[in-house]
Parts: sequence; structure tokens; C-alpha cells
Amino acid sequence: MAIMTASAVPTSVLKPKNSITVIDNRTGKSIDIEITDNSIPATAFSQLKAPYADGERPENDTPYGLRVLDPSFINTAMIQSEITYIDGNKGFLMHRGYPIEQLAEKSSYLETAYLLIYGELPGKSQLDLWSWEIMHHTFVADDLQQMIRQMRYDSHPMSVFISAFAAMSAFAPEANPALQGSDLYIMNKPLMNKQIVRILGKATTVAAMAYRIRINRPFTPPRSDLSYTENLLYMMDHMAEPNSYRPDPRLAKALDILFILHADHEMNCSTSTMVHVGSSLVDPYSCVAAASAALYGPLHGGANEAVIRMLAKIGSVENVPDFLQRVKEKKELLFGFGHRVYRETDPRSKVIREVADMVFDVCGREPLIEVAIALKDAALKDEYFTSRKLFPNVDYWSGLIYKAMGFPLDFFPVLFVVPRLAGYLAHWKQQLDSGKNKISRPRQVYIGKGRRDYIPVDAREERPITAQNGLNAIPHYISKRRLTKI
Ligand code: CMC
Repeated sequence: MAIMTASAVPTSVLKPKNSITVIDNRTGKSIDIEITDNSIPATAFSQLKAPYADGERPENDTPYGLRVLDPSFINTAMIQSEITYIDGNKGFLMHRGYPIEQLAEKSSYLETAYLLIYGELPGKSQLDLWSWEIMHHTFVADDLQQMIRQMRYDSHPMSVFISAFAAMSAFAPEANPALQGSDLYIMNKPLMNKQIVRILGKATTVAAMAYRIRINRPFTPPRSDLSYTENLLYMMDHMAEPNSYRPDPRLAKALDILFILHADHEMNCSTSTMVHVGSSLVDPYSCVAAASAALYGPLHGGANEAVIRMLAKIGSVENVPDFLQRVKEKKELLFGFGHRVYRETDPRSKVIREVADMVFDVCGREPLIEVAIALKDAALKDEYFTSRKLFPNVDYWSGLIYKAMGFPLDFFPVLFVVPRLAGYLAHWKQQLDSGKNKISRPRQVYIGKGRRDYIPVDAREERPITAQNGLNAIPHYISKRRLTKI
């Protein structure tokens, strides 16, 4: 689509105003749109209406106002937010005003979660109460445990996680606006707070269960006397040792820093899903299931898993140039590189590089790190990547750390989604507390067939069955031992 730029009027002849003037050349109508916080409301454009031009499709709805088309939300702000700020050009990230580097060095995950959700760093007694509540909401109902246990041994842990949260909605009828009234979370803030601590508390338990199913071991009950990440490691790894067993505190600390780094990242794919789904006022468990499903994809939280598969496929340093050539020919994607918002550097990837060394000191150096370093160095010197402003993102290093710590590959996205729940809940709460919640309902631009009349099947032209219309080459398992052939 061509973007036309009008020749600029010198600002010296204009008194600067905080607005833009848009002239609809179809009608000559001009509108002034106020700029607030360097943004304009897309709804302003719906004032621009015109009669249908000759031969124009009625589906364009031209007399009903101009639509703003922005596939994949490249330049559309979905919310006004007080939670997280990213300066993509400078590679800067802050939560509620605090730079991520300071939080990673000085805070803890639970404290950062409180900051994100409630807006300020907690006082000592607030922090104690907050941590106590979360660590005392870690138990999962027995019948829900049984349901989770029924999942197959080879289930992807993210599908277990998503299913468990979707099911939790059925276990909390008092928290369900569909049953209790649509204004439940507008009116009842203590109930909202309770769901927040329940979700954060149960997340690590469900995550550990997803892992224990994989290794075919019984679930380990949570321990409320441990820190958030210590308890996760405990529930994953406790076997026949005495109950006083504790995970390595250095790894619990490293994981806590990783959790801080992953706690929020404003309107990414999954958090915007949380806001989108939450705008319908459905219960928060269903919202978390939907947001987690969005995170599971390889272009989002699944990237850390994809990075390791990619590095393993490259195998050794001498294969790096060939692989990069394939990326440049667009036959491969360089997972863990690039970002929609960051254009210089991802500040999280710098901190995470230091955590990697902390973990390697305990667990030994991950052999794929040599390939990762050679690949990163070669890509950062290559014009293809520099001209497109592609550099390592958080997922490039996090996967190597998780691998060094011995987590299975498909568990990596779980280690991303558990901390990201703080961001989901902060945005869910902000939306419902704003008093301005409206259901998210994007527009579309219809480019399909115009109106036509139904033709009965016998009167229709015969059409070949192809892969395009969906029914060709669908693989079926058919036993060779059947009497009747299909
Ligand atoms: N490898 C190779 N080429 C790339 C990559 C990559 N990782 N990322 C972008 N490009 C190319 C892309 O092909 C395009 O080239 P051209 O101009 O020739 O068509 C150009 O760079 C611009 O890319 P884009 O597709 O417009 O970028 P985007 O903002 O739509 O996508 C992204 C952002 C993160 C989805 C993408 O960079 C990507 O697919 N990266 C790999 C997956 C990944 O690491 N995801 C984790 C993101 S960070 C954590 C999170 O949010 O979950």
C-alpha cells in the first residue's frame, strides 16, 4: 500500500498546535484531531465519510466512515498503560518507572510482581503478607490434580499448563462473572485480589505437575516455607530425599532473576490476548489459559525452545556460515534474533548473559554455547542482520541457561509463562480498575466475494478436490489388516 506524504508546510508560518489536520480528498472535508501523549484516537477517522465512487464495492462501507487498517498491530496502541515502558530505539525497559537492570539486581520476583500489579514497591509488611498469601495458595484441588494426571505422558507441558488453567475456571464458581454477575471484578476488589494470589500461587504447582507427568513420577506437594522459585525447583525435583531437601540456592536465585526479566513486556502477543479476552469480562482463569496459549507459539514464548533446536541442528561452529547463508536465502529463521519493538538491543539479553555464567559455574558450561557465540558474532557482523536491526533477544540466551540447568526443551516456554502471569494480571487488573473497559472488537476490511445467491448442490459446477480447498491429501492411519479397504 502506498503511503503519500504531503509536502511540509514550514513550521515558521504555523503556530504549533498539538493536533493534526486531515483532509479527505474525496470530499474536501477537513478534521482536526487532537494529539494526546503523541497518539491520536483511531475513532476520529470514522468522521470521514464519502459517497460510493463509481463501481466501488458496497462492502467498503464508504458512507459509514473511514477504517484504519493495521494488520498485526504494527502501529496501533491498544491501551493506555501505567505499567511498563519500552524505548525500543535505546533498548530500555522499565516497570512502573524502575529500570529492569535495577530490579534484576536488587528485587525479587514476588516483589516485582507486586510492583507490576499494584503500582508501587511494597512496604516490608505488605511484601511479607503478599509472599505469604501466594505461597499459601500453591495447593491445587485434589480432583483437579486427578484431571491433570490423566494427561498423556508425552503431552507438551504447555498444553498441560493451558488445560489446567482452563479447568481451574470450573473450580472457582465464586470467581466467575458468568455465574456471579458481569460487574463482579468491578465491585469486589478483595475477590479480585484473591484470584491474583491464587493464580500466582498455583502457577508453579501446575508447572511442576506438567514436568512430573513427563517423568512419570507422583506430584510433590508444594512447600510454603521456600521462596517462589525454590518451591518450583523443589516440586519438580524432590524424589526420595527427606522433605527437608532444598534445591541449590544459586540456581533458585538465577531462576528468580530470569523470572524478573520475564515478568512483563507490555503489549506483546500474549499480554494483549489477556487484555482482549479479559475485556469480555470472562473469569481470569480462562483469560490466563488464552494468554498462555498465545505465548506457546514459536514466534513468541516458544522461541527459546526453537533456539536450542536450531543450535543443535547447526551442531558445530564450522557449520555457522552455511546456516547463516540459508537464513539470508530465507530458507531458515534465526530464532532468538529480532524483535518487533527493540531496534538496537534487548536490555534483558545483557542481564541474562551474566545469569548464564552464574548457572554455568554450578551446572557446567552448556556445549552449545560455543555455537551460540559464533552464530551471534557472525550475524552481528553481517550486513543482512545489521541493516535489518536484528540482534539477540531474551530467548537467545534463556534457552541455553535452561538447557544447562537440565530442563527438557519443551519445558522452556513454561519457564517463560509462569513469571509472565504477573504481567498478565497487572494488565487484567488495570483494565478492569480503569472504569473504561469496553469489549475489544476490532474492525476488518472485507475483500471477499460480493453478495451472491445460494445454488443447490446438484446445480453447482463440479470442482476438483485440491489441497487448497482443504480435502486433498489428509493423512489417515489405515491398518493394512482391514478387510474392507477405504
Ligand atoms: N531471522 C531471519 N530474518 C529475520 C528474523 C530472524 N529471526 N527476524 C526478522 N527477520 C527479517 C525478516 O525476514 C524481514 O526481512 P525482509 O525485510 O527482507 O522481508 C525483516 O527482518 C523484518 O522482519 P519482520 O518480520 O518485519 O519483523 P517483525 O517485527 O514482524 O517480527 C519477530 C519480529 C520477533 C517475530 C521476528 O524477528 C522473528 O521471527 N524472530 C525469531 C523468533 C524469535 O526469536 N521470537 C522471540 C521474540 S522476543 C520474546 C517474545 O516476545 O516472545
